[in-house]
Amino acid sequence: MFRGCRTARFAKVAVWGGGTMGGGIAQVVASSGYAVSVVEVNADRCNAAQKNISGSLSRVFKKKFETANPKATADEVAAHVKTSTSDVMSKINFSTDGAAVAATSDLIIEAVVENLEVKNQLWKSLDPIAKPTCVFATNTSSLSVAAQAAVTKRSTQFGGLHFFSPVAMMKLVEIVTLDQTDPNVKTQLRDFVTKIGKAPVMCSDTKGFIVNRLLVPYMLEAARLVERGVATVEDVDVAMKLGAGHPMGPFTLCDSVGIDVIKLITDAWHKEEPQNPLFNPVKLIDDKVAAGHVGMKAGEGFYKYPAKK
Ligand code: 3HC
Repeated sequence: MFRGCRTARFAKVAVWGGGTMGGGIAQVVASSGYAVSVVEVNADRCNAAQKNISGSLSRVFKKKFETANPKATADEVAAHVKTSTSDVMSKINFSTDGAAVAATSDLIIEAVVENLEVKNQLWKSLDPIAKPTCVFATNTSSLSVAAQAAVTKRSTQFGGLHFFSPVAMMKLVEIVTLDQTDPNVKTQLRDFVTKIGKAPVMCSDTKGFIVNRLLVPYMLEAARLVERGVATVEDVDVAMKLGAGHPMGPFTLCDSVGIDVIKLITDAWHKEEPQNPLFNPVKLIDDKVAAGHVGMKAGEGFYKYPAKK
């Protein structure tokens, strides 16, 4: 039974992990007026998260302001971006003190590495110290939500909040609930997703939920197609953009999401369903990861990306 108030909104939100997804989630949550804590393992990671979020916010504010005020001077744009970005940044607390953050949070979203043992270890450590009313949500893209809920004593207050990359731009959040999820928690999660300006879809706990179940096999098949010599990486991307109307081709998408993330998902699914050909690992993907060419965040994936200033 959920121990929270039926109408309570999450006053304090915490995000574990300030990487591509965690940072993006903290950004959109803070942009909607919530107080957010980002918990990272050390000060360097906190600083990196701070820099990335601030950079992404500046990009969003610049674009919006320039679009709304096409005659604005460069100084006006810069002043607006600076004020708006620091306003949102002031709502985000970066911390390495997970225990202190857990004790005061109403919603904890984990966005740590896509590894069930790591996630379960985190939930086990947070469960005894988080507020009894605190709701736990995993941003897993591919792992079982039920398996994570099972290591806690709050499986009625546990769900999935699956965001998409880049979080600042992608409107969808898949809300994954379990049979035992309290109906009030479902409502709270749905309200929260709407309040942060995203569109929720409800989904049960199944491999890849909706989007990744369709998208990951598609990206893998694109890589197999290149391996078979059917077409180049560039031509496959052009084909899917112009022939299917996708905003990005599958290889640009892999680079954007992280080729390492695609590999983690594929390996986990292949281990669980080795007989399913959709989940067979692909050498081209494995080789990119082995070389450290994991996509935009590494400066190189299927394409090369200029270093960020
Ligand atoms: N942060 C902030 N703003 C961003 C941004 C980011 N990361 N990316 C784009 N923007 C904003 C900026 O305002 C940018 O303007 P700017 O370049 O002048 O700063 C504006 O969007 C336009 O960006 P782009 O010119 O790069 O291009 P697009 O018009 O192509 O839009 C896109 C970008 C919305 C990312 C679009 O290409 C798209 O929809 N791509 C598909 C993404 C997708 O499919 N994501 C799902 C991946 S699967 C996943 O995440 C699941 C996970 O579990 C693996």
